[in-house]
Amino acid sequence: MPSENKILLGVNIDHSATLRQARYRDEEKTCGGFIEPDPVLIALRSELAGADGITVHLREDRRHIQDRDIYRLRESLSTRMNLEMACQADMLEIALDLRPEAVCLVPENRREVTTEGGLDLNRLVSEDGDFVQKLSSAGVEVSLFIDPEPNQIELAQKLSAPVVEFHTGSFARSFGSAGEESEWERLRNAAEIAHTAGITVNAGHGINYRNVDRVCQLPHLNELNIGHSILSRALLTGIEQAVRDMKSAIDRATS
Ligand code: PXP
Repeated sequence: MPSENKILLGVNIDHSATLRQARYRDEEKTCGGFIEPDPVLIALRSELAGADGITVHLREDRRHIQDRDIYRLRESLSTRMNLEMACQADMLEIALDLRPEAVCLVPENRREVTTEGGLDLNRLVSEDGDFVQKLSSAGVEVSLFIDPEPNQIELAQKLSAPVVEFHTGSFARSFGSAGEESEWERLRNAAEIAHTAGITVNAGHGINYRNVDRVCQLPHLNELNIGHSILSRALLTGIEQAVRDMKSAIDRATS
């Protein structure tokens, strides 16, 4: 259980755009301007319900969030904007123009349904492109989405990344099975190593209303980024209630 601070909740709203694109991918300029749902409204309602930040992933294939969304969000949000993006030159250009509070660098594979694994920082170190340095110099807090592995944390430190986000997908998949304990231990060990290295620890992927309690028992956790589960519950309860429910679950787990 974190001894220091409360754990922040970043709400990933990508899937509100997935729903919009399912109908309006090629019709943005038609339909009398009536396009639904609007991810910006989902974001603002999430903030009202207590989200500490809003996360969006601008994917190379623009399958959900569009360029226009991120600029509208930038003007509208009152909390923090966390832009997830691949390590590509055109994305860097957009991020430097947008200047969100935070950027999370993620791997990207066109064929994946969602982000399947963490970044391989060996590649980032060798190909470089100075992503961390260029974004940090622009005042953007950079986070690296990595698997909870000691060698990746070491490379994150080498890259002077102030934040890592541990991929919790393997833990989420193992939840309730024989493998849960070892996956949780892998995360716990990684959180201790990152904290000792002076790196802020975030976590995300596959976190839901059932496993969030266990995730919150990890040491030194600063922020959780949660999307699919909150958006799924929002279909039944509305986004505000879904965010409040997740906030309550986090608060219960840490009180
Ligand atoms: N964090 C990162 C870096 C991600 O890529 C994703 C998925 O887009 C999430 C968090 C949220 O994952 P989920 O939708 O499974 O909650």
